[in-house]
Order: sequence, then structure tokens, then C-alpha cells
Amino acid sequence: MTAALCPGSFDPPTNGHVDVINRCLSIFDRVVVGVVHNPSKSPLFSAEQRVAMLREVFAGVPNLEIESFEGLLVDFADKHGVDVIVKGLRAVTDFDYELQMAQMNFTLAGVDTLFVATNPAYGYLSSSLVKEVVRLGGSVDGMVPAPVAAAIKERLDS
Ligand code: PNS
Repeated sequence: MTAALCPGSFDPPTNGHVDVINRCLSIFDRVVVGVVHNPSKSPLFSAEQRVAMLREVFAGVPNLEIESFEGLLVDFADKHGVDVIVKGLRAVTDFDYELQMAQMNFTLAGVDTLFVATNPAYGYLSSSLVKEVVRLGGSVDGMVPAPVAAAIKERLDS
């Protein structure tokens, strides 16, 4: 049985993330989404909120687990019995850091990372830009799933 781990900050999840997870679901038998909880960062949404948003988006989808984690990604991968990490690459600007993380994870635990080319429809998207657009009153229709758009607006209005 093949299994993939899609890790990320997902603060908030975008349609680019959703696309990568869906593509993994069509390639692998089982997909685990790991939402990082990094106490040294101050995300807009707590790890629990990010997990809840993703679970709402993927409600009823079989063979998919969505959990938060703290600490090393390779330990989370081991705990969930997954030995392949999948990350989306939007552009060459993503590459340096992603390659560094992939090589670190391989060195730490022999865990491989596969890269998928981001769907060109979402190549410009990032969680940071989505937050900025909402904060400045712009529309993020088509950029994030509907429950996420509602959650960002509510969070930024409060
Ligand atoms: O969505 P992002 O910000 O690209 O995700 C980054 C993530 C969660 C994959 C990365 O920060 C991570 O793996 N964090 C866990 C800490 C860790 O294992 N660090 C050492 C290996 S790089």
C-alpha cells in the first residue's frame, strides 16, 4: 500500500494545497496531511483551526487523515507509517528551500521527498498573499475553498 505525507503550514489552506492533496489521493492509496504546529511562530489560525478547515474541505474523502504535529516531520512520518513526503513546487524560488528540507529529511531518516509541479492555475497563490488580499478588502474567490474564505474574513474582522 503506497502512502504519501503532505506537510505544510496551511495558514490558511489554499486551492493550491487542495490541488496537491487531491493529486496525491489519485496517485497514492493513502494520504496523510500534516499541519505543523510551531510554537515559535504566530500563525493567523491555530493548528486546531487549520486542521478543522482542511477536514471540512475534505469531509467524507476516504483514505485521507488530517492531523497536526509538533517537532520533526520525519518523526510524524514514521508515526503514521509514511515514507514519502510530497510537496508542490510553484516556481524556482521555492526550489532552494524545498531541496534543503528534502535533503535534511533524507539525511535524518532516509525519507524521500517527491515534488509535484503546481497546477499553473494556482502558481501565483500563497497563503501570505491570500491573507493580505483579504486584509485589504480584496476578493479571494477561486483562490481558497469557500469555508476558508469565510474563516479568514471572520478572523480578520474580529
Ligand atoms: O507550508 P510550508 O511552510 O512550506 O511547510 C513547511 C514544513 C511544515 C514542511 C516544514 O516547516 C517542516 O517540515 N517543519 C517541521 C520541522 C522539521 O522537521 N524540521 C527539520 C527538517 S527540514
